[in-house]
Amino acid sequence: MNQAAPKPHSLPVPETDALEHSRRLTAYLADAIGANGGWLPFDRFMELALYAPGLGYYAAGAAKFGRLAADGSDFVTAPELTPLFARTLARQIGEIFEQTGDAQVLEFGAGSGRLAADLLLALDAEGTPCGQYSIMELSGELRARQRATIEKAAPHLLDRVTWLDRLPDAFHGTMIGNEVLDAMPVRLWARRPDASAEPVWFERGVVLTPEGFAWEERRYTGPLPQALNALADLPPTQEYLTETHEAASAFVRSVAPLLARGVLLLIDYGFPAREYYHPQRAGGTLMCHYRHHAHDDPFYYPGLQDITAHVEFSGIADAGVEAGLDLLGFTSQARFLMNAGIVDLMSALDPTDPETFMPAAAAAQKLLSEAEMGELFKVIAFGRAMDEWAGLVGFVNGDRSHAL
Ligand SMILES: C[S@@+](CC[C@H](N)C(=O)[O-])C[C@H]1O[C@@H](n2cnc3c(N)ncnc32)[C@H](O)[C@@H]1O
Repeated sequence: MNQAAPKPHSLPVPETDALEHSRRLTAYLADAIGANGGWLPFDRFMELALYAPGLGYYAAGAAKFGRLAADGSDFVTAPELTPLFARTLARQIGEIFEQTGDAQVLEFGAGSGRLAADLLLALDAEGTPCGQYSIMELSGELRARQRATIEKAAPHLLDRVTWLDRLPDAFHGTMIGNEVLDAMPVRLWARRPDASAEPVWFERGVVLTPEGFAWEERRYTGPLPQALNALADLPPTQEYLTETHEAASAFVRSVAPLLARGVLLLIDYGFPAREYYHPQRAGGTLMCHYRHHAHDDPFYYPGLQDITAHVEFSGIADAGVEAGLDLLGFTSQARFLMNAGIVDLMSALDPTDPETFMPAAAAAQKLLSEAEMGELFKVIAFGRAMDEWAGLVGFVNGDRSHAL
């Protein structure tokens, strides 16, 4: 089955050098398709489009994170939105430091370095300073940007930060990743009824046509990923597009053994399996972000836009637990931030100072509102060797681990 992708209309036209960059990545992707016999499974396409050395979206110079399209950015994340996010997270991390005595953070995929800078400052201000802040970042370009951000915002704390080339053999402390899982490649699946109306599964991949990249679905006869069993009861004639998250699960399985004592906190948008593989979510969750426009065409200017899928948190929970970690909690971002004290932090701001108070109030509203990030974003926490613990403050009310 071969379908040309619909082109998103009315998106801003890239600058000449950006177009040239995208042309080089497009040629690279075309070679990869050719080398794979003319068809590339989507997860490999996504991996290359985002991380091909020197060319992929995260590996090269696009601005990516920021508040406005005018600054050349494509999307905003919670740490970019407001330092209140890091300050609230610092309360949770400070609690972990105090209880374990391990004042270390390991951040995965630190983006612009905003979260690292603001966390270091907030942990100091809370009287629970971070002794060592390590960053595991795939992109050399982002490492340089992270260093510059921390140097500007917290120059006196820069010597506590190290960038890792490989993961440590054992880590004692708090591992965090904000919006990292959603940036990991996904496999794409299509369930389509055949002539006898029996459902048949296809894996979606990418081919090259004279008009550019296009979808091609290949009949899949191997054992289906276990996650798709959740769809066994769909009506036989229902068409369904979805994703599976092998790379995100593999990531959790690979970092879990390194956590000798402490907590792994992952924050991202997504749902437990029951909601993720819901009959009504029949179009999947694959999304692209270009200059703050969201659309669903991953073939639009490769290298210039983010490609992402929502996280399937039951699979993440299984991966962590199978790798020997304890599940410590799962809740919405709003609930987590409220539990950890965002309201206290807000009330400490001066409401008569419109320059700081109004933007902080607007950003907090975005972080907490059910209609924005508050409900769609979730926080999941795993731990090891935390048996004598009372639990994490972020999950004291509204823990939804049972929904996973
Ligand atoms: C959507 S950005 C989020 C950036 C930042 N955490 C924030 O919240 O602004 C995704 C980040 O994850 C990184 N990333 C993706 N896979 C990774 C992996 N396996 N290990 C470490 N970082 C990874 C990307 O390079 C990028 O920095």
